[in-house]
Amino acid sequence: STSTEPLVLSSRSPNNSVAILTLNRPKALNALSSPLFDQLNAELEKADEDDSVRAIVITGSEKAFAAGADIKEMKDKEFAEVYKRNFLGTWTKIKDIRKPIVGAVSGFALGGGCELAMSLDLLICNSRAVFAQPEITLGIIPGAGGTQRLTGLIGKARAMDMVLTGRKIDGKTAEAWGLVSRCVGDEENVVEEAVKVGETIASFGRVAVQAGKEAVNASLELPLDQGLRLERRLFQSLFATQDQKEGMGAFAEKRKPTWGDK
Ligand code: CAA
Repeated sequence: STSTEPLVLSSRSPNNSVAILTLNRPKALNALSSPLFDQLNAELEKADEDDSVRAIVITGSEKAFAAGADIKEMKDKEFAEVYKRNFLGTWTKIKDIRKPIVGAVSGFALGGGCELAMSLDLLICNSRAVFAQPEITLGIIPGAGGTQRLTGLIGKARAMDMVLTGRKIDGKTAEAWGLVSRCVGDEENVVEEAVKVGETIASFGRVAVQAGKEAVNASLELPLDQGLRLERRLFQSLFATQDQKEGMGAFAEKRKPTWGDK
């Protein structure tokens, strides 16, 4: 394509505290091409470094959050090339973003789109959302978390069903199965809901928010005793922050806290 239109649009919530990144390949249903993912990673890194951003929302269009990795880009690739270049390896960069990321999913979240969604911290979808791992229909399997994160979120029985049959589930089912945090009705605006969640998070101290995200994510990788130890150490370390004095002091004085992010 010769278009210079950005593949990821960046905007802000009304109070400026939430960066909103919108996947912008509507004609391809936001198929996650390598250039699109590179732009997404670059925008995420920018938002992570920008002190005025306190939370991030990633969304797509009403019809599609993302319909998967770009099949047309992939179809002629050979093993040696994808292996040597570690194809999809850059998708794991999202794990290094320290600020919370809220996904707002409407429409298709298929294959890599479902995997991108699952790599975010919280997911808000609407009842029109469709989640699936249809890779089996293309002669492959999921390659960016669709067998690993999905199984952790919904369990082996349901993950096997989705991965081996390509079964599609709607937003309400995704909520019931624990794939998303909240599913809103069709009449509600899923991006507005996600921004509200982002603004709520943005209203708290950044040090505690970052520690909360770090601790929950550690639970996915650590044995329980190590996870509990990390959690306790992070909890204890927050007593070194002004925000802990401010938060508890404000409670005792029956006033609203003012966070200093330190
Ligand atoms: N890659 C590339 N292009 C895609 C795409 C994808 N994943 N998904 C949709 N598109 C393109 C279509 O080719 C079409 O392009 P043209 O207008 O140039 O023909 C355009 O987007 C609109 O799509 P449709 O005409 O198919 O729209 P529809 O409403 O009839 O169907 C759909 C929508 C059911 C989502 C269908 O597009 C579809 O099945 N898409 C593929 C879904 C899929 O298999 N995703 C998994 C990809 S593999 C993967 O993600 C691997 C991994 O684990 C990382």
